[in-house]
Amino acid sequence: MIGTENLGSAISGPMQGFRVDHLGVVVADLDRAASFYRTVLGCPVGAPVVPPGQGIAVVFVAFANTRVELIAPTCTVSPLPDLLEDQTVNDFLRRAPLGGLHHVCYEVDDLDAVMRRLALAGARILGKGQPIIGASGKPIIFLDPKSAEGTLIELKQAA
Ligand code: CO
Repeated sequence: MIGTENLGSAISGPMQGFRVDHLGVVVADLDRAASFYRTVLGCPVGAPVVPPGQGIAVVFVAFANTRVELIAPTCTVSPLPDLLEDQTVNDFLRRAPLGGLHHVCYEVDDLDAVMRRLALAGARILGKGQPIIGASGKPIIFLDPKSAEGTLIELKQAA
């Protein structure tokens, strides 16, 4: 149960600067998925990125108003339970072998301020509750879907 009644008095005004940064889409085969977005949909597709120590490979697809992050595992056991608990890409593919929409990422101007707000509301951050450096080199956290109306939400510090 998330408490929202204290937010108004604890922090004045709505948070500014939430933007959709990307949609995280888990795929079973990164090359095949990149080819689909490039060839069938006609979207600009970036080169694969392998963030160190995360057990994933990522390709970003550009759209006029946002990006899609295609994500595939590079190992059978994810090294990221400290960040994602049972929401890793590997867990996702076990539950949905075809892949699918995994998370929505919002970019925020002040991640620390957002984290204080989440703590006041009793919203839980997955893992150790502290940011790590994500695929784009910026601090990120993931909210427990149980604290976020059922959606896995990534929050990313803006540049
Ligand atoms: Co993401």
